[in-house]
Amino acid sequence: MNYNETSTNKVVETMMAHRSIRKYSDKQVRKEDLDTIIRSAQAAPSWVNGQHVTIISINDPERRKKMSELAGNQNYIIEAPVFLVFCADFHRIKVACEMEGKEFKAAVNPDLLIVGSVDVGISLASAITAAESLGLGTVPIGGIRRSPLEFIELLDLPEYVIPISGLCIGYASEVPNQVPRLPQAAIFHEELYNQDINEEIKELNNIHLEATKGRKSGGSTWTQRMANFYMYPFYVNDSYKDVGKMLKQQGFRKGE
Ligand SMILES: Cc1cc2nc3c(=O)[nH]c(=O)nc-3n(C[C@H](O)[C@H](O)[C@H](O)COP(=O)(O)O)c2cc1C
Repeated sequence: MNYNETSTNKVVETMMAHRSIRKYSDKQVRKEDLDTIIRSAQAAPSWVNGQHVTIISINDPERRKKMSELAGNQNYIIEAPVFLVFCADFHRIKVACEMEGKEFKAAVNPDLLIVGSVDVGISLASAITAAESLGLGTVPIGGIRRSPLEFIELLDLPEYVIPISGLCIGYASEVPNQVPRLPQAAIFHEELYNQDINEEIKELNNIHLEATKGRKSGGSTWTQRMANFYMYPFYVNDSYKDVGKMLKQQGFRKGE
């Protein structure tokens, strides 16, 4: 479908203009704007209105430096005026259960990991759209899960709280081209799942190489990039290998 033929408005235009920003100017983010971003994140829907999201803002330069290293030397964590960490949070649910004289037993259910991750994802997306609508740039930082145990310690996260993604926010000093997406037919199917998507993937490959030239993660086709990332059980260099350990430590013990 041609985007020019579809309906649009200011919100949709903001979403369609999305690109991750990895170079920030020194210009500070207004307190009022940050407040609007957090309120937008909190207005997102959540499973049973459990509101399973906690957002932590980190300003201390030393802590930012440490976090940048732990997330795989991602310098924009230091440079961005705002750095937030989005956590899936069932600690408040445990408190709610205790207030009702009941025990929180659902942590054995792996569905909670889907619930928490989805709630964080929607909330993160709302924060991104709000920030971009205010003229700010953002980049999520899943790299925090390279060192989840260290992030738990640095943020003092209690049991039943897990770090899912960071989010850098600030004014862009460099605006990259948009990264191409798959043709819609690959991701939007009618009635039944359609596995016949090789041609669409090849179509993306043809434009991906050119569109991502000059980027740290670019210079390859989409299939090359995906295969090189997903050919290891724990991604490249065994990064993200402590996520299972972290889930156990935080109380998500399957079947106990
Ligand atoms: C949950 C999540 C975690 C991400 N983590 C990182 C990260 O650690 N570092 C980074 O540079 N980009 C990160 N990204 C950004 C993606 O690489 C980016 O969204 C993708 O390449 C598409 O580019 P675009 O956002 O410019 O359209 C993350 C995105 C998501 C949704």
